[in-house]
Amino acid sequence: MRDAAPKTIYLADYTPYPWTVESVDLHFTLAPNATRVRSVIRFAPNPNASAEDAMFLHGEKLKLISAAIDGAPVTPDLSDEGLQVAVPSGAFTFEAEVEIDPANNTALEGLYMSNGMYCTQCEAEGFRKITFYPDRPDVMSVFTVTVEGPHPVLLSNGNPVLTQNHLAKWHDPWPKPAYLFALVAGDLVAHSDTFTTMSGRHVDLNLYVRPGDEGKCAFGMQALKASMKWDEEVYGREYDLDLFNIVAVDDFNMGAMENKGLNIFNSSAVLASPETSTDMNFERIEAIIAHEYFHNWTGNRITCRDWFQLCLKEGLTVYRDSQFTSDMRSAPVKRISDVIDLRGRQFAEDQGPLAHPVRPESFQEINNFYTATVYEKGAEVIGMLKTLVGDEAYYQALDLYFERHDGDAATIEDWLKVFEDTTGRNLTQFKRWYAQAGTPRVTLEENFELDTLTLTFTQHTPPSAATPDPQPQVIPIAVGLIYPDGTEALETRVLEMTKAEQSFRFTGLEDEPVASVLRGFSAPVVLTQNLSDTDRAHLLANDTDTFNRWEQGRTLARGSLLSMIRTGAAPDAKYLAGIHAVVTDTSLDPATRALMLGLPSQSDLATTLHDAGETPDPAAIYAASETMREALADTFSSDAAGLYAANTVTAPYDPGAEQAGKRSLSNAMLSLITRRDGGAAAQAQYDAADNMTQQLSALANLIRAGKGTASLTAFYDQWKDDRLVMDKWFGLQVMEAAPEDAAATAEALTRHPDFNHKNPNRFRAVFGALVMHHAGFHHASGAAYTLLADWLITLDPLNPQTTARMCSAFQTWKRYDAHRQRMILAQVDRILATPNLSRDTTEMLTRIRGA
Ligand code: BES
Ligand code: ZN
Repeated sequence: MRDAAPKTIYLADYTPYPWTVESVDLHFTLAPNATRVRSVIRFAPNPNASAEDAMFLHGEKLKLISAAIDGAPVTPDLSDEGLQVAVPSGAFTFEAEVEIDPANNTALEGLYMSNGMYCTQCEAEGFRKITFYPDRPDVMSVFTVTVEGPHPVLLSNGNPVLTQNHLAKWHDPWPKPAYLFALVAGDLVAHSDTFTTMSGRHVDLNLYVRPGDEGKCAFGMQALKASMKWDEEVYGREYDLDLFNIVAVDDFNMGAMENKGLNIFNSSAVLASPETSTDMNFERIEAIIAHEYFHNWTGNRITCRDWFQLCLKEGLTVYRDSQFTSDMRSAPVKRISDVIDLRGRQFAEDQGPLAHPVRPESFQEINNFYTATVYEKGAEVIGMLKTLVGDEAYYQALDLYFERHDGDAATIEDWLKVFEDTTGRNLTQFKRWYAQAGTPRVTLEENFELDTLTLTFTQHTPPSAATPDPQPQVIPIAVGLIYPDGTEALETRVLEMTKAEQSFRFTGLEDEPVASVLRGFSAPVVLTQNLSDTDRAHLLANDTDTFNRWEQGRTLARGSLLSMIRTGAAPDAKYLAGIHAVVTDTSLDPATRALMLGLPSQSDLATTLHDAGETPDPAAIYAASETMREALADTFSSDAAGLYAANTVTAPYDPGAEQAGKRSLSNAMLSLITRRDGGAAAQAQYDAADNMTQQLSALANLIRAGKGTASLTAFYDQWKDDRLVMDKWFGLQVMEAAPEDAAATAEALTRHPDFNHKNPNRFRAVFGALVMHHAGFHHASGAAYTLLADWLITLDPLNPQTTARMCSAFQTWKRYDAHRQRMILAQVDRILATPNLSRDTTEMLTRIRGA
């Protein structure tokens, strides 16, 4: 039931749990509608907390069968949130038996079923839907788990200690919080391999999948072994069990979960084959496998004291997985992609009503705080720390972190302290990155006299509800100087800005250089640098920092698009010429050249316009972007076919960076060619494609050219039995729809027999694509707002988490004109008025509305 006054939880209210848990024994007797869970939990008074005589255990939607303390039956007080029971003063044993209904668990949190298989998702607060327990990350214990069920595969965390027919017993020697508990039971097949750790420990690796998916395991397994090796080489971190299992499930709210020794993955985040997965899928799978594996140290061995510290494990692990991808692939390409993502999602979040610090100070529903700010800005903060202290001190501090806090439930204070102790730095001001919401705006004034360049920076963070009075941040600004002849006047140097306004001088210069500022995007800020278009074109052509070359192209594109939107200007010739030069420069790698061709996203342009105090018109932004793409098609009219051919891969498919980069450039060319040839080249590519990257890109171009009907049908017939490919088929049609057709296309797809709103992947395929279609979602008819609201109302009682996440589509409402604002708010209010709306969705929409 919906709380009349939802409870807000505050970081400042933290108190330790009065007991420690010495051991947990769980016994599961699986049955779809009546699974029995018996628990035996050894409690002892927590020496670091004040004693209490009544114990609270979390528990939700549990049918209590029996409970006992030290063997004597007890009758606890039950509420919607858990149980309360009187307990003796010393150590004691609490036993309980509960019954749960996994078959009807559509929320996909706790123990649930997916295609006849049992699986769990406990982070953040799902364990309380399995049994009564102190479900908080600072309560860590050793788990022994027995699983009884009629399935060939019965898994839990740790090492197997007993395997019989229809029964398996598991023991995890590493103390862990309940959110890392996992159980899987099903008719699964294993793709197996082994890994020998740096100290010679032999580890069995298994990737468990549904029969039929065996052929999609090899890549994930390779990625796992590469991750294990990388963490040994770069962080000196070794795996600590004899067994590492990964299970793929089709119904999963998130990408994947780092349960100790038993990672559970959304099948879209692990299963891959060249025929069914795109290059982007392969790259994402490699990164997610690494991410979840890396959590074994940053998350599991060292966990979070409370959920306010979520960035301690997520920010750091995202940072680590981005380092891994940079090492496995191309560092500049990864950096550019991460910045595109940060600007698209985190900057928008920081600009709107959901803005919150990397470490929030209060929440109602923790599931709503797995955000771009906690994850991506959290990772940026770690990157800045590394930039400020240097590589050597960074890894020293990490060694100290692992040594000092292994086995702990730690805080951001603990994290910063290891850097202070390693380097002698005072990080008090730096800590504002964790405490303040909002994206700092940095403005640069340049002055050149005689042989001296003075760079004067000012910083200002717009106030928000979360941070009404922001203070200056520590901003590492990586700078280089380029002379007019293209040679380097100064190699990269990191300036440390700490004040609201600060100047830095560079003397002994032979000529007035162009300043290349915020290289590698050294801080998550919005930089305003009044460079002339000529200077930008100069950096685009000559900067020694690849990121900044891309950034200058991007800034030129943004500037030109904004003039087109504001004044109807024509596309900027300097931009087009500059881009033509870099994209045809074969000394650059194809992946970078493909990225250079990209335009700022339409929602990015809306963010920029809103920042400038203007009201973005989605239709005008769409039109300008289309005009610019047409201009690019003209600019490349005599090169496109040659570049397309030169970058077409003829060797057998390989998902690695080299081939993927070539395909991204050839497909970027295909989209320009399609604007001129009406779809002939796309059709040829479609007919010849032997991998999903080529097939899907060809199909997208055919749809855009208005020639997609036959191929969409053929694609459906070819792939109707492959769930993950069908998600692409659903999504692509919405993505490629004209703005005025997007909502109707999505609506029609919800009536397709293969649409299933209970499957988060399928729901997101349609609605994720709709909300990403800026001009389609914000079409003046308001049809997309209504359609999304209809479906959020339908999904909320079944799956509050996925519903609440999708609500963020409405977070930008204040940007738009009064008519759109009214339409969005009407839908937000209609959802909010739904009886029994979940706490998740209620919190999201109330915050978005800014009541
Ligand atoms: N611990 C999370 C999964 C999670 C998120 C559980 C939210 C419960 C609530 C996991 O480590 C994670 O962050 N997964 C990401 C992918 C990752 C590569 C950033 C995900 O699932 O999207
Ligand atoms: Zn994570």
